[in-house]
This record gives sequence, C-alpha cells and structure tokens, in this order.
Amino acid sequence: MGLLSKIFSNTRKPEGFFGRMMVNGMNGGGHARLAEWGLSHLTVADDANVLDVGCGGGANVARLLTRCPKGMVTGIDYSPVSVKKSTEVNAAAIAAGRCRVLEGSAAALPFEEGTFDLVTAFETVYFWPDIEGCFRGVRRCLKEGGRFAIVNEDDGETGNNEKWEKLIEGMHTYTADELRLHLANAGFGDIGVHGDGQHHWLAVIATR
Ligand SMILES: C[S@@+](CC[C@H](N)C(=O)[O-])C[C@H]1O[C@@H](n2cnc3c(N)ncnc32)[C@H](O)[C@@H]1O
Repeated sequence: MGLLSKIFSNTRKPEGFFGRMMVNGMNGGGHARLAEWGLSHLTVADDANVLDVGCGGGANVARLLTRCPKGMVTGIDYSPVSVKKSTEVNAAAIAAGRCRVLEGSAAALPFEEGTFDLVTAFETVYFWPDIEGCFRGVRRCLKEGGRFAIVNEDDGETGNNEKWEKLIEGMHTYTADELRLHLANAGFGDIGVHGDGQHHWLAVIATR
C-alpha cells in the first residue's frame, strides 16, 4: 500500500496517528459546510431520539444535539479513534445524559427495533459493506415514519470519485439513483433527493 493510500484509508477507518489527524480534520472546514447544508433539509423535533452512524469526530453529533434540545443523540462508529474523539467533543452532553457514543458497525447496529426518530449518515455510506443489508438494519431501528438521512460530498457524477476509489480500498461513491434503488430494496419509501447545484453534494432522505 502506498503512503497516500495509507493516509486516506483513515477516512474509511481512522487508526493511529494519521487517523487522529483525520478525525480532527473531519470536524472542521468542508465537512462542516456540507453537514449544515445536509441538515437544512431536515426538521428535527425538540425531543427527537437521533442516531448518527459513522459519527467520526462527533461534530455532527454536537450539531444534532442543538437541533433537539430536549432529545437524545447517539453516535456510533467502528473506529476506536473516532469514538474517543466524539466522546471528548460531546463530553458535556454525555455528562448531562443527553448523548452517548458507542463503538459498533453499521453492519450490526445494536439497537432495539423502532428506537429512533432520525438516523443520519454523513460522509460514511461509501465505506459500508453490503449496503442493502446495512440499510435494512437502519430501517429496523427506526420508528414507523422515522427518517434516514444520507449526506455525501460527492454525488458520483463528476468522475472525481475514481481517484478516491483507487486510493481507498472498498470505497464506492453512490449516485442518487443507486442510493434510491438500494433504499427502496431495503424497504424505505418516500425517498427525496437533494443536490446543491454547485458542488455535486448529495442529500437523500428516506422514510420507514
Ligand atoms: C469520512 S468519516 C465521516 C465522519 C463524520 N460522519 C463526518 O461527516 O465528519 C467516515 C466515518 O465513518 C466510519 N465508518 C465507516 N464505515 C463504517 C461502518 N461500517 N460502521 C461504522 N462506522 C463506519 C469511519 O470509521 C469514519 O469515522
């Protein structure tokens, strides 16, 4: 594996020194603008129970906490480096009993059926294995009428994704049509697609 590949594989699963650098980077800059844009398509009830899958450095867990001031936000990530950073970033909300951060995989979400009002996935579904299996798992832990929001920086329509997919093993950049199909196959309905018309950002929101 080349050095660039080694560094950028930390976007898929942050580990070690480069992983810690990566999760710090995820909490700022471009990810912040993308997350704000993605969240602008969602209304979140004050008392919502929210899950952020692939929570990385926890900046979006923090954003979601401000959207549901009487609610609860859970972050989950399979990288211990991400879990540690997310826990530090959201320490006050965790101490207040409004937040928890867990280590676990999108492929085996450890929650009861019908737990959440909203599940979010920012910049992470590119890396999930067996995408329809993961989407079925997300659907299972949503309440009836609950929503699943996927927010991606790349809509797979520019060709830029090819260089990243070569560098990062197992990465796939989904187009809106691919996501729509996989979500429908996993049992989701009312699938809305939003593009930003400028950066090729993509937000897809589906309902259980
Ligand atoms: C590019 S980062 C995005 C982090 C954060 N959502 C954000 O937007 O800043 C991708 C994150 O998804 C996590 N991830 C990737 N595949 C995962 C899986 N199958 N289960 C849980 N977490 C996963 C990685 O460990 C990493 O923290």
